[in-house]
Amino acid sequence: MREDGIVAESLVKRYHIGGLLRRGRRYIEALRGVSFRARRGEVLGLLGPNGAGKTTTVKILATLLEPDEGDAWIAGFHVVKDRGLVRRNIGVMLSVERGFYWKLTGRENLVYFGLLYGIPRAKLDSRIRELSDLIGLEEVGVLDKPFEEMSLGMKARLGLARALLADPEVIMLDEPSLGLDPASARRVRRVIRGLAEEGKTVLLTTHNMVEAEEVCDRIAFIASGRIVAEGSVDELKSILSPIVSVVARLLPPHNEVNGLLDKTLAGFDFSVRERGEYLVVRIRVKRGEEHLAVEKLLSLVKDGFRLIESRVEEPGLEDLYIALTRGGSEA
Ligand SMILES: Nc1ncnc2c1ncn2[C@@H]1O[C@H](COP(=O)(O)OP(=O)(O)O)[C@@H](O)[C@H]1O
Ligand SMILES: [Mg+2]
Repeated sequence: MREDGIVAESLVKRYHIGGLLRRGRRYIEALRGVSFRARRGEVLGLLGPNGAGKTTTVKILATLLEPDEGDAWIAGFHVVKDRGLVRRNIGVMLSVERGFYWKLTGRENLVYFGLLYGIPRAKLDSRIRELSDLIGLEEVGVLDKPFEEMSLGMKARLGLARALLADPEVIMLDEPSLGLDPASARRVRRVIRGLAEEGKTVLLTTHNMVEAEEVCDRIAFIASGRIVAEGSVDELKSILSPIVSVVARLLPPHNEVNGLLDKTLAGFDFSVRERGEYLVVRIRVKRGEEHLAVEKLLSLVKDGFRLIESRVEEPGLEDLYIALTRGGSEA
């Protein structure tokens, strides 16, 4: 258990909506049995469409909401029974504007929250300086600007700094890069990777596939309150999409080559596109059988084709995400 920073087991959460009268009461089942683990030293991405249950999951893990069923542990502490200990071991960044004092500067906000978290005043200044260097607070002017005058990127950097203030073991970031300028988003990604390398556990929710692929060690896809797949990016791709494409750019010996291609590639799932004087041939094969396609390409070379370049193309995380969560927002 100790090496698991986060364990979620069969979490169920219902939101009651509608009238106060019993007759009119209804509920939304936001989580329908969510289970996953995040190990120490790992960034776990929780990915899913709007309404899938990402924020609800983060709030339960952060002890801001109690689950109706199921259990969860943070660094070995139970989110309901050991709430105080959980709070001492987590840093959370929910939506960027949450909880900051609008009239106070970035530095004043950080001092306020630092004292609230029980960090001695004497240590606080050096901690804020450390975080400023790490996250680039000073360089974008976050420390001395009132919160209400900050851009979204500045607020996000401040939110991240607050989450890291008490040097927690487990860090949870709910869509940290939503709407950020590229420089801030890049900085946030770099900080997240650094945290994992220090041995922290990071849970990150995001919509951004590029970010997920760049930052996450493993990914859990959530749709309609259920985890529909979990694994490393490579595992997910190979489990869910056993097909890869061998793509080659060829210079044909003459113009009348269609018959030759059809004959050589008979039995393969392939397509051909013209690109100027070149042909781009795309052959889809089972993962692990790429060599069969390459052998055919080499036989084309014997027939007078010049092989300009070839590569194996993976199915994208985006394709996978769409396939897994299709129609998955609200059920
Ligand atoms: N306070 C709430 N009251 C009622 N329904 C809610 C509340 N918060 C979230 N929901 C509903 O629960 C589901 C999951 O929401 P949420 O966890 O915010 O998803 P995500 O963060 O993935 O977009 C959605 O259907 C949402 O409309
Ligand atoms: Mg959300």
